[in-house]
Amino acid sequence: MTFIPTTPSMVLLFLVLLLKSSIFAQDVEMDETATTTPSSNTSSLNECDNLTIGEFTFLLVSSSDPFDEVSFFGFQDLPGNLNLYLTDNAWTGDSFATTEGVMMLTTPPEGIPAGITVGLGPAETVYQYGRSWQSVQGVFALSTEGEQVFLYCLDGSNQPRPIAAISYNGPFLPPNLPDYGFNTSAVPQDLVDANATIVLPHEHRWQYIGPKLLEIDELKAAIQDTETNWEGTSVQNSSGSTTGMSRTTTMVVTSFLISVAVVATNSLW
Ligand SMILES: *[C@@H]1O[C@H](CO)[C@@H](O)[C@H](O)[C@H]1NC(C)=O
Ligand SMILES: *[C@@H]1O[C@H](CO)[C@@H](O)[C@H](O)[C@H]1NC(C)=O
Ligand SMILES: *[C@@H]1O[C@H](CO)[C@@H](O)[C@H](O)[C@H]1NC(C)=O
Ligand SMILES: *[C@@H]1O[C@H](CO)[C@@H](O)[C@H](O)[C@H]1NC(C)=O
Ligand SMILES: *[C@@H]1O[C@H](CO)[C@@H](O)[C@H](O)[C@H]1NC(C)=O
Repeated sequence: MTFIPTTPSMVLLFLVLLLKSSIFAQDVEMDETATTTPSSNTSSLNECDNLTIGEFTFLLVSSSDPFDEVSFFGFQDLPGNLNLYLTDNAWTGDSFATTEGVMMLTTPPEGIPAGITVGLGPAETVYQYGRSWQSVQGVFALSTEGEQVFLYCLDGSNQPRPIAAISYNGPFLPPNLPDYGFNTSAVPQDLVDANATIVLPHEHRWQYIGPKLLEIDELKAAIQDTETNWEGTSVQNSSGSTTGMSRTTTMVVTSFLISVAVVATNSLW
C-alpha cells in the first residue's frame, strides 16, 4: 500500500519523515562520493518516482477554442521544486516523440497540495499556475483535429515518467508503430491499468462536469465515467463569447467543489 497522508497530523508526520530522510540521504550521498569507486552508477529514486500513477487525472482539454487549455488534479500532494511537464508529443512505446512540444512548471517550494486544480492557460479563476509554464521543447499547440496530452516528470534516471494521459481523438494506439503523426499516440500500460487515462472522442473542448462532492474512490470513478460526466463542445468560432462565458462559470464551480471534496473527504480519514 502506498502511504498517502490524509489528515493534518499525518501530513505533518509525512513532512517530518520527508525532511529527515532527505537530510539522511544527503549525508549518505556525501559519504558515497568520498568512499565508492567512480564506476558505480546506481540511479536512485527521486520525488518523481514517488508520485503514484492513478492519483492524478486530467479534468479539461481545449484546443484553440479560443486558446489551448489543459487542467489536471491530484489526489496526492505534489512536492516542492519538482519539474512537471505537459506534452502533446506522442508516446511511442518507451519514450516520447519530439515532433511537438513540451511545457514545464516548477512547483513552488511549499509544493502543491492534493485537491488543487493545476492548469495551463489564462483562466486564473479556474485553475492555478496557468501562466507559470515555460516552453522547453518544440511547440505545444493542441490540434483542433484531436490529440493526446501527457503529464510527466523525470524519474531518478532522468527519463520521462508519464503519470496521466488524456486523448480527445479516440482510443490510444498500440506501441511501436512506425509513425504516430500529430494526432495519435500510444500510452504506457501502467497508466491504463491504474485508470490514469481519459479517452474521449474528438471534440475541440472537453471538460469534466460530473459530481464533485464524493468520497475519493467515487470521485475517481466519476471522473473516469466519460460517457456521463464529461461535456464536449466544438465551437468553430471564438466570436461566440456567450458560450465561452457560460462554460467558464461551470468550470469555476467544478474546480472549487473538487477542492472542497478532497479536503472534506481527507478530514474524515
Ligand atoms: C518517497 O516517499 C517516501 C515516503 O513514502 C519518503 O520516505 C522518501 O523520502 C521519498 N523519496 C523522495 C526522493 O522524495
Ligand atoms: C548513469 O546512468 C544514467 C541513466 O541510465 C545515464 O544517463 C548516465 O549516463 C550514467 N552515467 C555514467 C557516468 O555512466
Ligand atoms: C489527424 O490529422 C490529420 C491532419 O493532420 C487528419 O487528416 C486526420 O484525419 C486526423 N486523424 C484522425 C484520426 O483524427
Ligand atoms: C479502474 O476503474 C474501474 C472502473 O471504475 C474499477 O473497477 C477499477 O478498480 C479501477 N482500477 C484501479 C486500479 O483503480
Ligand atoms: C464565425 O462567426 C462569424 C460571425 O458570427 C461568421 O461570419 C463566420 O463565418 C464564423 N466562422 C466560422 C469558421 O464559423
